[in-house]
Amino acid sequence: MQRVFSGIQPSGEAHLGNYAGAIKNWVRLQDEYECIYCVVDLHAVTESFDPATLSQRTLDMAITLLAAGIDPERSILFVQSAVPEHAELTWYFNCVAPLGELERMTQFKDKAARNRQNLNVGLLDYPVLQAADILLYKAELVPVGEDQIQHLEFSREVARRFNKRYGDIFPEPRPLLTPGKRILGLDGQAKMSKSLGNTVSVLAGPEATWDKLRPAVTDERRVRRSDPGEPEDCNIFTIHKAFTPAETREELARGCRGATIGCIDCKRVLAEHIERELAPLRERYRALAANPERVREILATGAGRCRAIAREVMGEVREAMGFLA
Ligand code: TYM
Repeated sequence: MQRVFSGIQPSGEAHLGNYAGAIKNWVRLQDEYECIYCVVDLHAVTESFDPATLSQRTLDMAITLLAAGIDPERSILFVQSAVPEHAELTWYFNCVAPLGELERMTQFKDKAARNRQNLNVGLLDYPVLQAADILLYKAELVPVGEDQIQHLEFSREVARRFNKRYGDIFPEPRPLLTPGKRILGLDGQAKMSKSLGNTVSVLAGPEATWDKLRPAVTDERRVRRSDPGEPEDCNIFTIHKAFTPAETREELARGCRGATIGCIDCKRVLAEHIERELAPLRERYRALAANPERVREILATGAGRCRAIAREVMGEVREAMGFLA
């Protein structure tokens, strides 16, 4: 069975972009692949964070993933910092990773502009750690949103450079995308992102979700209700792709193109389908949050399984690089 790996930062509550672009796909892929999913706390400390709340946020993200349907009987769920080999492999990769490409990464440039006060080496090295996450398990498939494509390309480059120098150890991982691969914030300006504060949390109830959806930007052609629009240019329609059945979506698309429905109507249908899917998630979240010991056990088991794989791969890596055994 091919191996899937993906990760999410515990830097805030998971939002509709995370869900549409990644988490929903993670759940689906469990049927077909050996899946490893990770809460990447080592990545989260590259930007300013509060040490007093990091562990709780990490646990909350793990609970969200379990509530979304990650099944610890079928997949591995763990926390990155519990497997020190991620950091070790990052170091070896640092010594083959091209500096120029790291400096050109769009996320690095964006984050560097935002973090002038805390422009640390970790922020630049972030994609190297991401490559180590994936390749430590020799994962071939990586379900992510579109914003991670550049990092994935970089992981492939690291694998190629390492293999060329030390022998054929790592596969070149490929991204797996969804129709909701790029959800914009509700202001329609930039990607929906935890660090930009333009998100709708998957844990928000129906009222809070509606308060954000109602004023959300749609296709700009629809100034008046009688103006026809193009659903493919509408962020609300992109979100529909993650939540609303195809038949209903086609009906909405016809209504939008023919101006027979308004954007508010379209948003109401979206809110309904979001609630249908996320109400049970919130219910499971509450049940799991009441039993954090169980969640810690799941994460400890996951970390144990990962360490066993990591030890083996690192043995191969150290031997290939010629370290004294
Ligand atoms: P993070 O925590 O920013 O996001 C987690 C996942 O959600 C996707 N995503 C989106 N998809 C569509 N529209 C959006 N607006 C949106 N915002 C986020 C992301 O693409 C991602 O798949 N670097 C990664 C974490 C990571 C990782 C890895 C991923 C660390 N190591 C190894 C894959 C493999 C990140 O920042 O995720």
